[in-house]
Amino acid sequence: MSRRTHVDPLLAAEAAAASGAPALRMTGVGKTYGSGAGRVVALRELDLEVRPGEFVVLLGPSGSGKTTLLNLVGGIEEPSAGVIEVAGVDIGALNNKQRTAFRRDRVGFVFQFFNLVPTLTAQENVEVLAELTGPNAAARSRGALDLVGVGDVADRFPGQLSGGQQQRVAIARAIVKEPPLLLCDEPTGSLDLNTGRQVLAVLRELAREGHHTVLLVTHNSEIARMADRVVWLRSGAISRSETVAHPVEASELQW
Ligand SMILES: Nc1ncnc2c1ncn2[C@@H]1O[C@H](COP(=O)(O)OP(=O)(O)O)[C@@H](O)[C@H]1O
Ligand SMILES: [Mg+2]
Repeated sequence: MSRRTHVDPLLAAEAAAASGAPALRMTGVGKTYGSGAGRVVALRELDLEVRPGEFVVLLGPSGSGKTTLLNLVGGIEEPSAGVIEVAGVDIGALNNKQRTAFRRDRVGFVFQFFNLVPTLTAQENVEVLAELTGPNAAARSRGALDLVGVGDVADRFPGQLSGGQQQRVAIARAIVKEPPLLLCDEPTGSLDLNTGRQVLAVLRELAREGHHTVLLVTHNSEIARMADRVVWLRSGAISRSETVAHPVEASELQW
């Protein structure tokens, strides 16, 4: 087991707030894929700031660059231009080893398709990640499963769980390392309305009580009603950004 600094999201949020650093700051970020005739500009000169504990919904049609943006913030891909700072740290300035630690410890990813390992139980799916990031993996995993409301099915395999339960296991897996930043890519894209609302309520609660900063991308504009802020992405650029005066509860959403 490699050495690591355990990052408590509350401490990280407080440290970022105290230092005045936003949870996320993107400055002039661009991303281009391919070259010549196959060149695709996925993001162009994008500026975005998210404060610690904020729940931001990023809306945009398919192909507008939502997944690219999350992958850049999560350190999975590198920008072609610009600077990305997470809690004041310029992730482009990290060396390979630091970047690996950043991805492992500081960001949690939740995807549309839950990507659970079918031959591992819910508990084991979470433990695999917990073991990478500190001691007491079993207890921490159980704690994360309890927190998102699936502790009672910890010993089941993914195939024995509903879609909503599987997504909650995936969220538990993402938060077991207590990442300050939670990046969610269409997390309700393959769930029905009721299940989707439950999963969104869990994410909302993690931002409110767990002090995670949540960046959630979706093409479902209804989800924007529960955000602290909505950012619209069009053809790789931010077309609008708006604070939500009175965010509604996830249970009130309709689609
Ligand atoms: N690895 C890649 N190689 C080439 N083009 C890509 C790659 N990933 C994304 N793109 C292109 O970048 C644009 C934005 O894609 P994406 O970020 O996936 O959008 P969204 O998630 O909003 O649907 C699209 O035109 C897409 O085809
Ligand atoms: Mg996408």
